[in-house]
Formats: sequence, structure tokens, C-alpha cells
Amino acid sequence: MFLNDAAVGFDTVNNKAVFIDQTLLPNEYKEVCTDDYNEIFDAIKLLKVRGAPAIGVFTAISLAVLMNKSKALTYETLFKELKKYCDDLILCRPTAINLKWATGEMLRIAEESTTENFRLNLTNQALKMIDDDIAICRKIGEYGAQLLKNCNSILTHCNAGRLATVKYGTALSPVYIAKENGHNIKVFADETRPLLQGARITASELCESGIDTTVICDNMASYVMKNGLVDAVLVGCDRVALNGDTANKIGTSGIAILAKYYNVPFYVCMPFSSFDKSIKTGDDIVIEMRNGDEIGDMWYENSMIPQNAKTLNPAFDVTDHSLITAFITEKGVFTPNQIKNYI
Ligand code: MRU
Repeated sequence: MFLNDAAVGFDTVNNKAVFIDQTLLPNEYKEVCTDDYNEIFDAIKLLKVRGAPAIGVFTAISLAVLMNKSKALTYETLFKELKKYCDDLILCRPTAINLKWATGEMLRIAEESTTENFRLNLTNQALKMIDDDIAICRKIGEYGAQLLKNCNSILTHCNAGRLATVKYGTALSPVYIAKENGHNIKVFADETRPLLQGARITASELCESGIDTTVICDNMASYVMKNGLVDAVLVGCDRVALNGDTANKIGTSGIAILAKYYNVPFYVCMPFSSFDKSIKTGDDIVIEMRNGDEIGDMWYENSMIPQNAKTLNPAFDVTDHSLITAFITEKGVFTPNQIKNYI
């Protein structure tokens, strides 16, 4: 096994992008090593690699791998090939800003390179992005653990844990760091229909780390809040607008509304790479629409939906900034009004 506690990696000796196929969890742990463009494209599109930071870093690693194996001889052909990969990959998952951020960073490095150092510079940039992601998530965990020092249990939605980043995660990092400090926080994990990232992925990584984990159906969040079972909600994010409106996994905005009603603090854990200063509000965030088969067919032997029924499958929704207590970031904890001052 190449990956050690990480969701994605770069095997520079064999020039391969490495990822855990998350569609197989929790029943099978499989690491995939690849330098094949179609396999990379499918890994992102089919959510084998998922979670905004992991998608970004994996894209950077993949671009370096693809360019290392490219036969192009001139700067122009190298750049053209890189640009084509970037333009195609960016379409896979339009909501998470990290994909756009990662391709932008790789193109910026390429622009500053020559034919001779083109491949090496991209490789070094991908390796730097791996290290940066680990450091940023650790910082989010440290600030979050401090904030949660009197907290017994949290609720989280989807998976914003170590499998959604390189290591530690964003929303689950405070739980891991608190545990390192001897403070055990219990986690309620929403199952997160339709792709069950909470039940399959969040619960897997938390249980593996010895954290007290309870999986609930999405429609039970109100019950646990009303009965005082959770002290805070922590979620990740895919894109945050200038005013603090936040896109995250479908269902997040409903939980934020419930949290406001029941007076439970609602925190978004955000690496600044998820902050999109080019958009003023969440209305400008493109929401990825996915195939309706994921709702009625994917997990069942027989379809759970009559043939004539239509489906609607938005992968994300936008939580209004007024519902967010604070953002836990690598630079500290900020209210929605404050974040734009810390870019
Ligand atoms: O569709 P997914 O599984 O990629 O969605 C993931 C989320 O919504 C996460 O909460 C978000 O990307 C943050 S991951 C640190």
C-alpha cells in the first residue's frame, strides 16, 4: 500500500497518481495507481475521489503525472496539452472551487516555466499542494478543537474528513485534534442521501480512529437537535462567496435552518482555497446536477422508484450566510462578515 492515512498521493518513483476508491467503502479498501487520463477523469466524475480539497490536490497530482508522461517536445505543445486536460477536468465537478483553483495553479506554474523545467515544476507544485493541504487541515483542526473544548458531541453532514482531503479533513479535523489532546467528542453522522458519504465514508474513518460514531438518517437531524444530543454542527464547504454564502453537500442548508431554530451553533470549516472572491453571493454558484439513477437505483437490487416518476438530483445546496455562526479556517475563526478581510 502506498497511501499512509492519506486519501490521495503522488508516487513520484513510478509517476502515478494514487487514490482510494471511495465508492467501494466501507466494504473494500482499494488503492488505485494510475497515469491513465480516462481513469483519472472517471475517478473524479464518479466520486471515487471526492471532497473539495481532495479533488483539487488529486487534479494537480494527475496533471503532473500526465505531463511527465507526455511526449510533447516544445513549450507550446506541452502547454497546449496541459490546458486541454485542465479545460476537460474542470467540467467534471463544477461546484467545488478547488478544481478550478488547482488547474489555475498548475497553469500559472506552467506559464512561469520553460521546456526544460516544465515537468519538474509541475511535479514540485503538486507535491507542495499535498504538504500545504495537510498543514492547512491541521490548523483548522487546532482552531476548531480550541473552539469545541466544552463540546461533547457534534453533528456533521456528508464527509469532510480525512478522506475528503489529503489528511485530517476539515470538519472532522477538530475532532481528531481534540482526541490527540485527550478530549473525546462524539459524532452524529448524517447518512447523506443519495450517495451516503456520511454513512459509508465518515463513519468508516471515524470508527477506524476509535471515535464514538452514530449514523442517523438525514431526516433525524431535527430529532437529535431538539433532544439536546448535539452541541454544534460542523460541515465542510465546496465554495464560499464573498458574503459568506456557502455551497456544500445537498442537505446542508436544511441542517443550518434547523440549527438556527434549535440554537445550535453552525460552523463551516473552510480552507481559504475554497473561498471564491470572484463571486459576491451564493446565487452565482453553479450547482452540479447528477443522474437521477443515484436516487432510486444505485443502492438497491430493484429500483425503489416507479418508472414514470421523475427525479431531481442536485449534488449541492447553498447555505445563507445568516445561518452560519462562524467559519473555522487555517487563519482562525471568523464570522461571515469578517472572512473577506482575511483573504
Ligand atoms: O460530492 P462530494 O462527496 O465531493 O461532496 C463533498 C462535500 O460536500 C464536502 O462537504 C466538501 O467537499 C468539503 S470536503 C472537506
